Amino acid sequence: MKPTEEFQQTDAATPQRDDRHSMLALLRAGRENMLAQQREQWDARPQFSRLVTSDDVDVTHGPILYLEDVSVSFDGFKALNKLSLTIDAGELRCVIGPNGAGKTTMMDVITGKTRPTSGRAFFGQTIDLTKLSEPQIAHAGIGRKFQKPTVFERHTAFENLELAMKTDKRARRSLTAKLSSSELERIEHCLETVALSAQRDKLAGLLSHGQKQWLEIAMLLMQEPKLLMLDEPVAGMTDEETARTAELLKGLAGKHSVIVVEHDMEFVSSIARQVTVLHEGSVLAEGTMDKIKNNERVIEVYLGR
Ligand SMILES: Nc1ncnc2c1ncn2[C@@H]1O[C@H](COP(=O)(O)OP(=O)(O)O)[C@@H](O)[C@H]1O
Ligand SMILES: [Mg+2]
Repeated sequence: MKPTEEFQQTDAATPQRDDRHSMLALLRAGRENMLAQQREQWDARPQFSRLVTSDDVDVTHGPILYLEDVSVSFDGFKALNKLSLTIDAGELRCVIGPNGAGKTTMMDVITGKTRPTSGRAFFGQTIDLTKLSEPQIAHAGIGRKFQKPTVFERHTAFENLELAMKTDKRARRSLTAKLSSSELERIEHCLETVALSAQRDKLAGLLSHGQKQWLEIAMLLMQEPKLLMLDEPVAGMTDEETARTAELLKGLAGKHSVIVVEHDMEFVSSIARQVTVLHEGSVLAEGTMDKIKNNERVIEVYLGR
């Protein structure tokens, strides 16, 4: 009998046991192949170079980030103009400022995407960020979340974290290699941190916008960053998601240093202890939200009153 005839004789929904096994095997092989490819892509990201590690970050004096008189010129135009900023280890800092104030450029300098024209930028006491490449900086322990979520939509939440795991490429060649119990624990812990434990086996593409953002934060956490920078993390979120994100970020502070660039003032008020206002490439004001809100210059240039 030809295979096609054999198939026709069987109920399509319940193929013979052997067929079902080989079909499952095929599906599994295809899926494993895809996972392995995704993992290779993720590993190929520049973060995985191994020069400076987060163990090298010296925060014995308190601050984890020092920017001193940092300027960035684009064809003579100063996107940053002698910007000085210090972030303490474990601090949660919000950076606000009107469009064009230099917020993105500041993050670009910290992550090595843009080189300062002048000034100093240090990670801890000793790591000169202006001398490191983007991948080296990422590896040293600075994680950045861009505004748009970039999760692997066709993988489950759990698999996304597995893909993001900081591992030695030689030690684990593919996603299909067995996870150690401590790796498993770390993934579960990260899922729990962002309140996605119940969604662990859900495809990332089926998560809500807010959940995708949290999943991406969890992916960054898998890399164990010392400093985490988030660009407008609550843009597009519902009120409830925004409130949960506030709780999440407050929970991360202490264990990590966190810089949040955000436009949503209500959100900033709900999480910030210290707020830095940027304007025309420098710090216009710094302090508690109450102090900022009542600062004459801030009211003038930022709130536009
Ligand atoms: N690559 C670039 N070339 C020229 N000008 C730029 C470049 N990147 C940013 N700028 C300018 O620098 C200023 C600061 O931009 P940016 O850091 O994106 O501000 P923000 O994120 O606070 O809105 C803006 O006036 C912007 O137009
Ligand atoms: Mg920006």
